[in-house]
Amino acid sequence: MRPLDPLRSIKVKLGVVIVTAVVTAFVVNEIGFRLDYTFKVRVVVAIALSLVMVQLMASGMTSPLREMAAAARAMARGDYTRRVRATSRDEVGELARAFNRMATELAAVDRQRRDLVANASHELRTPITALQALLENLVDGVEQPNPHTLRVALAQTERLGQLVGQLLDLSLLESGGARVEPQPVALRGFVEQALHEVELAGRDVRLTADVQPVDLAVTADPARLHQVLANLLDNASRHSPPGGVVAVQARPHADGVRLSVSDDGPGIPAAERDRVFERFSRLDGGRAVREGGAGLGLAIAREVVELHGGALRAEDNTPSGCRMVVDLPVRSR
Ligand SMILES: Nc1ncnc2c1ncn2[C@@H]1O[C@H](COP(=O)(O)OP(=O)(O)OP(=O)(O)O)[C@@H](O)[C@H]1O
Ligand SMILES: [Mg+2]
Repeated sequence: MRPLDPLRSIKVKLGVVIVTAVVTAFVVNEIGFRLDYTFKVRVVVAIALSLVMVQLMASGMTSPLREMAAAARAMARGDYTRRVRATSRDEVGELARAFNRMATELAAVDRQRRDLVANASHELRTPITALQALLENLVDGVEQPNPHTLRVALAQTERLGQLVGQLLDLSLLESGGARVEPQPVALRGFVEQALHEVELAGRDVRLTADVQPVDLAVTADPARLHQVLANLLDNASRHSPPGGVVAVQARPHADGVRLSVSDDGPGIPAAERDRVFERFSRLDGGRAVREGGAGLGLAIAREVVELHGGALRAEDNTPSGCRMVVDLPVRSR
């Protein structure tokens, strides 16, 4: 039983407890006096009854604090499942509710950290296993060190390097340690250069650029913005059907610029549109793994865009496919 739970302030609760104790002592003294008890007896009985009243009234006032201390000790040991009973409406109750919210959030962060370690280890192990098998074959003489086997080994090493680079970049961006050096970027030349690089990769897609007005510019870190566009173009051309169209469009929008990359591939189902921006998320597991994607590209792109004060999202392309939209403020943060 917690009789004072409905009261909203700890000061009022303390007042009620003190008044109850004083009134109890006074009443006991009065009755004892009328019944001719000695002063000593009256004092002892008054103190005892006042203490009982305090115990009854104040029960539950401090127990959330003790529960919180115990839960905090459990958290320090890595157990985030404990919650505190937060029924009172005063400051302690408020603290207990905030504590419970914190415990829930910490549990989620802890789960994400474990997932991240598991995913990263899994992704790293795949090329390492392939490389190890190849090297064992070479050492045992099962295979000869010819240009083909060496190229396979080099490809696996490059994949490892790329993966480690992406992970480091992501942790740098997430920790807020990434430096952005914004400068005016003329979008027309910038987009054409990025498309040219995709052409050199030799994918069977048709690339189009539409930047209007022709002198449209944005203030951004050119290397970082290129990283975003290259990633979106890589995804779009990878998911396009043979001969499909990948279109880049840039237009003024609100008080900034809207840059979009559209393709006519399978698109991303509405329910998955948030998930694709999470680390290691791949919708088309088998194919993406074969083609070397770890599912980090969009997570990095979103971090970079947000670092510029912008937003990146996926939507439907008409009539079919996926459209990635980057909104950037003219002047980045
Ligand atoms: N244009 C697109 N069309 C359809 N699905 C897409 C498109 N872009 C991304 N996706 C889906 O989102 C997932 C995550 O994309 P992301 O760029 O983060 O990773 P990735 O391309 O698989 O690997 P990485 O970019 O790290 O090499 C992809 O695996 C794919 O399933
Ligand atoms: Mg990608």
